[in-house]
Amino acid sequence: VTRKPIIAGNWKMNLNHFEAILLVRKLAANLTADQLAAVETVVLPPFTDLRSVEGAIKDDKLAIGYGAQDISKFASGAYTGEISGGMLAKLGCTYVVVGHSERREYHAEDDATVNAKNKAAFEAGLVPIFCVGEGLEIREAGNQVEHVLAQVDAGLEGLKTEQLKQIVIAYEPVWAIGTGKTATPEDAQEVCGAIRGRLAEKFGAEVADVVRIQYGGSVKANNIAQIMAKPDVDGALVGGAALDAEGFAAIVRFPE
Ligand code: G3H
Repeated sequence: VTRKPIIAGNWKMNLNHFEAILLVRKLAANLTADQLAAVETVVLPPFTDLRSVEGAIKDDKLAIGYGAQDISKFASGAYTGEISGGMLAKLGCTYVVVGHSERREYHAEDDATVNAKNKAAFEAGLVPIFCVGEGLEIREAGNQVEHVLAQVDAGLEGLKTEQLKQIVIAYEPVWAIGTGKTATPEDAQEVCGAIRGRLAEKFGAEVADVVRIQYGGSVKANNIAQIMAKPDVDGALVGGAALDAEGFAAIVRFPE
């Protein structure tokens, strides 16, 4: 099975809607149609930038996908400050990040919430980029695989086979996020391989073979190729390096 690589840029809480348009245009200007056809390229701006990003991508017919960084677990109603999957779908989003470690840490999202958000995403016709990963203490104790597989089990609970086949899973060791400490390609493969093994065990090879698993954590143009060379790594979730159009384009060009 060949899984198309997917490189997604999570802008986190950066860039206003003017800066967003500039970044998307500059990104497209740094990539050829062939490069964009070879690697699925996605930007994940803050909610307030989505309308502008939609406009820039549609007006210029850019082959760049986009999505949001979070979703409400509710469909609509009296939930002040929340954004529903339906609203995101209406803005043309394809993807939504679910369960990022920063949401888990600063907004107390637990596995049950993450599971509900994965379901809410599919209900709205969006594809979750479902994030998992261990903190430093767990890594130092050597319990990363066990920890991540428990997150995977909980997050995917109750999803249908057709949904499982579409989901993107992002393995992000928390100690590697924004720290400049990239996991070694072997560290990434160990956990991504274990995730795929778990998918095969629980849902069968048909699901496990098609699910794309990203690595995230201090990915840069100079380390992407080695990480992507690992058999169970199908892409990257890029944070800091996605804020620079040329740098992000260089990551997307990793096959060259
Ligand atoms: O969502 C992206 C990750 O949290 C990685 O962030 O590339 O700045 O380490 P980073």
